[in-house]
Amino acid sequence: MCRRISICSHKGGIGKSATAVNLAACLAMKGKKVLLIDLGQQSTASDALGVDTTNLDRQVHDVFMHGAPIKDVVRPTEIPCLDIAPSNMDLRPAERSLESQDEYEFILRERLATLDGYDFIIMDTREFRPHGYQRHGRRY
Ligand SMILES: Nc1ncnc2c1ncn2[C@@H]1O[C@H](COP(=O)(O)OP(=O)(O)OP(=O)(O)O)[C@@H](O)[C@H]1O
Ligand SMILES: [Mg+2]
Repeated sequence: MCRRISICSHKGGIGKSATAVNLAACLAMKGKKVLLIDLGQQSTASDALGVDTTNLDRQVHDVFMHGAPIKDVVRPTEIPCLDIAPSNMDLRPAERSLESQDEYEFILRERLATLDGYDFIIMDTREFRPHGYQRHGRRY
């Protein structure tokens, strides 16, 4: 059975990506087949695993915006048993556009249902701010 683990918090800069990358790498080094999905537009997880995020032909953005199968986005890393679905800044406009689509919250879940062969899928997210969230007078 594949376990899906999402590393998320409403706060930024608190080690989500560091946790996701290290958890994924440790599981892979124990022989588990792991997919790390980079859902952060800063590409922290992708960069950490050596992906050139300035030159991505396929990435998570294509899954959300162009209906690409997630397996087409996945690539191996230098760590055996660890694959990554990388992202870069292109994810930013996708997030805004997605929010106007019905049931956009379930797109990733549906796409992941078509994947098999992984023991773990780890998701590195950006900080999550609910609608109407306010901080230091700024509304998100
Ligand atoms: N356990 C730790 N000890 C010391 N420094 C850490 C630790 N975990 C993360 N860091 C450092 O803290 C900074 C932020 O970490 P990271 O990028 O993982 O946070 P994040 O929550 O993913 O940020 P963002 O919200 O921008 O995606 C980085 O410089 C990272 O190297
Ligand atoms: Mg991060």
